[in-house]
Amino acid sequence: MTDGGQRTFGPLGTTLVIIPTYNEAENIEPIVGRVRAAVPEAHVLVADDNSPDGTGKIADELAQDDDQVHVLHRKGKEGLGAAYLAGFRWGLDRGYGVLVEMDADGSHQPEELPRLLTALKGADLVLGSRWVPGGRVVNWPRHREFLSRGGSTYSRLMLDVPLRDVTGGYRAFRRETLEGLGMDEVASQGYCFQVDLARRAVKAGFRVVEVPITFVDRELGDSKMSRDIVAEALWRVTSWGVEARVSKALGRRG
Ligand code: GDD
Ligand code: MN
Repeated sequence: MTDGGQRTFGPLGTTLVIIPTYNEAENIEPIVGRVRAAVPEAHVLVADDNSPDGTGKIADELAQDDDQVHVLHRKGKEGLGAAYLAGFRWGLDRGYGVLVEMDADGSHQPEELPRLLTALKGADLVLGSRWVPGGRVVNWPRHREFLSRGGSTYSRLMLDVPLRDVTGGYRAFRRETLEGLGMDEVASQGYCFQVDLARRAVKAGFRVVEVPITFVDRELGDSKMSRDIVAEALWRVTSWGVEARVSKALGRRG
């Protein structure tokens, strides 16, 4: 339900902030520290794809010193989507009530997380949004902003989801939302995973709310964005859109 209809929402349970990592050795310690300072009651799960730069080992050291920090070691680079799915299952199995997505590189500021969690009190899913009033990006190269805005607009029109930032990766889910959106059928690997979850949440009738964020481009390490990730997003979004139109047309006729 994205129309702001009246509904009551249950209390929020314990929060798990999931941080997927691939080669984030310089970023992992600062980001975990910032999350722990900004929302001290939250737990952190680092989902590392066996980063060659030793991110997983640094995360293990952080976990050793802090029993609210956990590490999920995965065997190799399988994409953002697979890492999040594994992280969500880890968190759902352990009874967390709120599951948060956050990049490791500081683009998603942990200091903004309390605002997302406050909004989640009246929603099923909260999206940190760069493209609603009050949202912005800092230091992002022109071509990335163009790609992101274009990707969001294309997805919105193609999939009929009334959201401004469909590709963003700073989000807070209630556990019931993840349980109800058909996580087991998600095949998206790259960043279109974000589009996939957003469209599923809308389709399932969940209340999705966008909260403005300031996205700050990374200072250390490299983006994992690639031609393959863009290509996957383009063909998947297009085929979801075509599928929806075909089944709607068939439904009307029948
Ligand atoms: N475990 C794992 N496996 N982590 C990954 C992988 C992977 O294959 N690929 C990327 N990551 C992690 C990175 O280490 C980082 O913590 C986070 O996912 C985001 O990756 P970036 O490479 O920093 O993404 P970006 O800044 O280019 O893209 C941003 O914009 C995208 C489009 O709006 C992010 O906000 C994405 O979440 C967003 O979809
Ligand atoms: Mn980034």
